[in-house]
Amino acid sequence: MAAPAIAQYSESELAAEARAGLVRAGQKELPSKYLYDEIGSALFEVISVLPEYGLTRADERLMRRHAGDIVACLAGPVRVAELGSGSGRKTRWLLEAFSLRRPTTYCPIEISPTALARCESDLGQIERVSIVGFEQPYLDGLRAAASGRDAQDRMLVLFLGSTIGNFDRDAAERFLTEVRSILVPGDALLLGTDLEKPLPQLLKAYDDSLGVTAAFNLNILARMNRELGADFDLAAFRHEARYNSVFRRVEMHLSSTRNQTVAIPGAGCAVSFVEGETIWTESSHKYRAEDISGMAVRNGFRRSAQWLDSEWPFAESLLIAR
Ligand code: AVI
Repeated sequence: MAAPAIAQYSESELAAEARAGLVRAGQKELPSKYLYDEIGSALFEVISVLPEYGLTRADERLMRRHAGDIVACLAGPVRVAELGSGSGRKTRWLLEAFSLRRPTTYCPIEISPTALARCESDLGQIERVSIVGFEQPYLDGLRAAASGRDAQDRMLVLFLGSTIGNFDRDAAERFLTEVRSILVPGDALLLGTDLEKPLPQLLKAYDDSLGVTAAFNLNILARMNRELGADFDLAAFRHEARYNSVFRRVEMHLSSTRNQTVAIPGAGCAVSFVEGETIWTESSHKYRAEDISGMAVRNGFRRSAQWLDSEWPFAESLLIAR
């Protein structure tokens, strides 16, 4: 799976969000989107091949093994739109399976121009698949992709890699409602979700023995040093992966190893930490396979099929718009 795209955020947006998240009383926070600059995205690519992190391989295995089954569930011409396609690597099997039956249009939606260009050139070689890319955020891109549909086309939206797990549960539900509002009855959404698994396995996936996830997490501080002139001492923060059993999510934190004050000139502030205080940088919600039907129904879909990986608990669920 490609890393979530590198988006260009203005320095002032980063500064405002860093200030808001760090100066407040209570739990300090930084938005997880700032994990993905060039270095963070490269580190995420490494995470996705780590032995402890099976999520990406499970997603790809399911797409490879079940491409034909997914296609068999959807009769008639289909316009495939992928939210956050990256380079589109795991979508190839599905497009090849569609193209055996009929000419197909694929609309990758991606905010990174580099990833989009790579996707267009890699998948543009598949016979009988035409590609129309949209360099836009998810929902704007989906609206644009849907507006180009022919009357007889049904849309198949792909939201893979358990990206939905990085949304808070309420935000995930709102997002599904938004996606549904762009679709018409009979359209489909293929949703990838990482599933609950034994705690030791889950924690190791977010705190690997090589320290790649730790580097990925700490890079958010390094980014503030680079872009906002901050003076975070990376050696004085420790990566921590915690399971929150109330919200059923792994949280990544950066824990201060001492009392300290960090200057962030680009955000016009200085931030004090007491020893053990943390910055919360990401949540990765875990689902139960049976949660997906309820989620579907609450947001205007019905669950029509589901494929589970046998090696790493992960689900690919096909939802049909009602
Ligand atoms: C992109 N996303 C699905 C990953 C996840 O597992 O939540 C991001 C990640 N964070 C640490 N490791 C991987």
